[in-house]
Amino acid sequence: MADPFGFAPALIDRMRTARRVVVLTGAGVSAESGVPTFRDALTGLWATFDPRELATPSAFARNPKLVWDWYAQRRAQVATVSPNAGHRALAELEERVPHFLLVTQNVDGLHARAGSRALVELHGNIARVRCSRDDQIVEHWDERNDALPPRCPACGSFLRPDVVWFEEMLPADAIERAESAARDCDLMLVAGTSGEVYPAAALPHYARAAGARVVEINPNATPLSGLAHDTLRGASAIVLPALVRAAWPQEAT
Ligand code: OAD
Repeated sequence: MADPFGFAPALIDRMRTARRVVVLTGAGVSAESGVPTFRDALTGLWATFDPRELATPSAFARNPKLVWDWYAQRRAQVATVSPNAGHRALAELEERVPHFLLVTQNVDGLHARAGSRALVELHGNIARVRCSRDDQIVEHWDERNDALPPRCPACGSFLRPDVVWFEEMLPADAIERAESAARDCDLMLVAGTSGEVYPAAALPHYARAAGARVVEINPNATPLSGLAHDTLRGASAIVLPALVRAAWPQEAT
């Protein structure tokens, strides 16, 4: 069962021959692991929670404990889930192409746990915590104070999750690495993202302008669908392994 999806031969050919591959992922790739997305109408986090109250610097300034607790809850939830077949297929793809970069908007750390190494976590990682004053990563903290977030052991400022909030800049090294790879790739896979949040959503445009074949993997249409050469409508945990198997059938694991 090499290719149950009937992928375009030109796509499979590009998978096999591409020298520089960039993959952009979003919350949808972790859906099968049980991590909620943000914008899906009924199940997305932003359907239930207001991002302005939870994911902005001003929300943290207004109500640091509410923000801390929301992320602490998500951190605990992410610790209970596992990478799925889509994450694993991307780790395998990395082994098969000469130059590879996986750019994720996800903060759940599942790509790294699946074995991806050339990885840019554009929006940070929810497992990490940093000082809200000088951004130093803190390994151990004390959750005991009920009314306020834990404090930095060095300076006493509140600790915060090491994620990017709305209204904040992305880490410069992360976005530079992602942009320069996107501007110089011959294949880009865009999986499980609504393509609503910039600058991540600009990356497929750069890839397309550079002459790359752009492939969207998403059960639903997005603003990026129009620029994709291939729109593979399905769950990434199904489509990504099938795509890798279709390109390298003789080496089935
Ligand atoms: P969204 O929640 O905006 O989009 C999730 C996408 O995944 C949608 O297009 C769904 O159709 C698709 N999807 C759902 N289930 C899927 C599945 N099983 N397989 C493949 N795709 C599936 O999530 P993101 O695009 O990641 O930022 O959101 C971007 C950023 O907005 C996030 O990183 C976060 C959020 O606010 C910050 O927190 C800074």
